[in-house]
Amino acid sequence: MSGAQSSPWHHWSHREPARPAGTASPDRRVKALVLAGGAGSRLRPITHTSAKQLVPVANKPVLFYGLEAIRDAGITEVGIVVGDTAAEIQGAVGDGSAFGLQVTYLPQDAPRGLAHAVLIARDFLGGDDFVMYLGDNFIVGGISDLVGRFRAERPQAQIMLTRVSDPRAFGVAELDAAGRVVGLEEKPAEPKSDLALVGVYIFSAAVHEAVARLKPSWRDELEITDAIQGLIDDGLRVESTVISGYWKDTGNVTDMLEVNRLVLESVEPCVQGRVDETSELIGRVVVEEGATVTGSRIVGPAIVGAGSTVRDSYVGPFTSIDRDCAVIDSEIEYSIVLRGASIDGVGRIEVSLIGREARVTPAPRVPKAHRLVLGDHSTVQISK
Ligand code: G1P
Repeated sequence: MSGAQSSPWHHWSHREPARPAGTASPDRRVKALVLAGGAGSRLRPITHTSAKQLVPVANKPVLFYGLEAIRDAGITEVGIVVGDTAAEIQGAVGDGSAFGLQVTYLPQDAPRGLAHAVLIARDFLGGDDFVMYLGDNFIVGGISDLVGRFRAERPQAQIMLTRVSDPRAFGVAELDAAGRVVGLEEKPAEPKSDLALVGVYIFSAAVHEAVARLKPSWRDELEITDAIQGLIDDGLRVESTVISGYWKDTGNVTDMLEVNRLVLESVEPCVQGRVDETSELIGRVVVEEGATVTGSRIVGPAIVGAGSTVRDSYVGPFTSIDRDCAVIDSEIEYSIVLRGASIDGVGRIEVSLIGREARVTPAPRVPKAHRLVLGDHSTVQISK
């Protein structure tokens, strides 16, 4: 565990203090259950063609950050719950050995809720403690501190909370004056606080009994939020930690650009591709292998993916250009460009998310008109 000063967590322990060293059971096995099913409706149109857990942040699928955080917390046995996009997730993660993990895939026939995922993972989990990690959640700073705290204190469940601007999109916690969780509600119309449940939970095997008792919610899902409420109702110990540096796919591109910015801010500059002498790289810039930058200026933090071309262009801060893209005779800043997209001769693009294999080109001069082929659920903003 890192020291308090370097930790991004604000924690309050509102029950008995941690056991003295030596009486904890740090060697108990903790597994991870990673949820990578779900429809991804909030990130359309990107998720029409791709699993939401594979949406890239600084050119790396959001799910990979979670798997790395799990590994860094000393966990190796991981069950990944998969749905319709199983093939894509398995193609990306494989047997987990690239992450130093042993991955078991657990198919879920339909998105029947987070607690349903625990139900179908019952055999995999056995009697072990486990971290449940929602594959579309992003937590700055990883989970090592949290897992360390759980191992030391061993509550029945440990949840993470964060302040959000629209709690109605989350599970919401109500705390008493001492900071104890007294109630949890899933997607309340009238939230009792702005403290949302973060999609990373740590459970002891006590959760299985609470899950077994659940009835489907109003959205016809077995809610993990209700299971945790069950633990509280049974008088079991549920610890909470308030964290900052949290992101989930609330469907808004602004959020994605923001988490991309956060991650880019700490990338190590590294040039493995080719940058010609007429180009200039300023600040934290990553040019991956096989990428070429000619006659261009890149102001970091920014990343140019493997095999991509940047020619006669300006790439500004907080931009991620994925692999096999082309940015030619254009300017782009504070944007994410997904694999195989090309942007050619279009002036300046900002605050944008460009999907895989998308083409952005100028229209003929006459007549002066926009020519659009937009995917379902796309958004376009045109400057007049
Ligand atoms: C789920 C949980 C919710 C939690 C959220 C965090 O919501 O039900 O309590 O706040 O994850 O990502 P869902 O993704 O199902 O909308």
